Amino acid sequence: MVASFTEMRPGLDALAAALVERESLTGEEALAAVQSALGPEQLARLRGRASVTEIPKSVVDAVHDRVDQGAALTTVGFLGGTGPTGRGLGLRLALAGHDVLLGSRDASRAQQAADALPAGGIRGVDNAEACAGSDVVVVATPYEGLRAVVGPLAGALAGKPLVCTVVPMEFDERGPRPLHVDEGSAAEQCAALAPQARVVAGFQWVPTRRLLRPDVVVEMDVPLCADDTDAAAAVAELAGDVKDLRGFHAGPLRLARSLEGLTPLLVSTNQRYKAHTGVRFVGLDLPDPT
Ligand SMILES: NC(=O)c1ccc[n+]([C@@H]2O[C@H](COP(=O)([O-])OP(=O)(O)OC[C@H]3O[C@@H](n4cnc5c(N)ncnc54)[C@H](OP(=O)(O)O)[C@@H]3O)[C@@H](O)[C@H]2O)c1
Repeated sequence: MVASFTEMRPGLDALAAALVERESLTGEEALAAVQSALGPEQLARLRGRASVTEIPKSVVDAVHDRVDQGAALTTVGFLGGTGPTGRGLGLRLALAGHDVLLGSRDASRAQQAADALPAGGIRGVDNAEACAGSDVVVVATPYEGLRAVVGPLAGALAGKPLVCTVVPMEFDERGPRPLHVDEGSAAEQCAALAPQARVVAGFQWVPTRRLLRPDVVVEMDVPLCADDTDAAAAVAELAGDVKDLRGFHAGPLRLARSLEGLTPLLVSTNQRYKAHTGVRFVGLDLPDPT
């Protein structure tokens, strides 16, 4: 059955093969399901991925689930994407079937970072292109770089969900401590810098270096603070596409300081106990997104 797909590019072949395997579909039915669910643009992207080995089974499974849900793939762009946050979160989103643009002040550095990651669908570009080419933009610079990176892109960010992962934090001889931010939080500073962006604060304590190892289970909640409910829902869905993360809209943007402020506490705990702590909200049963 799968052999009937040999004329196709391998990425599409792998997707259709997974559908055949999991759904008892015929090859033709599987191909039709992939085509109708993903649409020409997404198909073109998948066909562009060079080989089956660049598309891990987890990607095929995730795309299959998205086929079931009739969901579209998203392009996620990272500003300052060459650090652990951009690369780690970017890798996991790519493994979930999304396209990822790692942005940098230097496009060649970003391309090197993208090439080193074990998944297809990740490209390195400069920060402006990561913003322009993406459906959802993630700020992944240190706090010191936020103003310089987001400010000039304010126009290009208008109307886009802008995820702020930034934690205003520094270390002294006593360990980590939060920094004062005049706007109240790094996320509110993003909103001030790019007033027409749909800012969503989140992912502040996700251990992004651990996300760089696809075999490591990183199980935790990703509460989001945003004033734009639709943007929060879109980002919650993205978070949920990363295996073992659970995203949800926790409150308005003015509460982002609580998310950002928790990270120094977790980092301190991790240092004391040589641990990898995360946060799970107990007593929260979210409705099934499907
Ligand atoms: N590490 C974590 O586990 C974690 C978890 C959750 C949230 N966060 C937050 O996510 C953000 C990124 O963390 P990270 O560890 O990935 O950061 P990082 O490695 O220190 O920096 C990420 C990238 O930002 C760019 N950058 C650095 N300084 C800059 C500046 N002054 N101006 C403009 N761009 C600059 C650099 O990219 P180019 O040189 O290529 O432009 C750098 O590779 C931080 O705000 C952090 O608080 C981190």
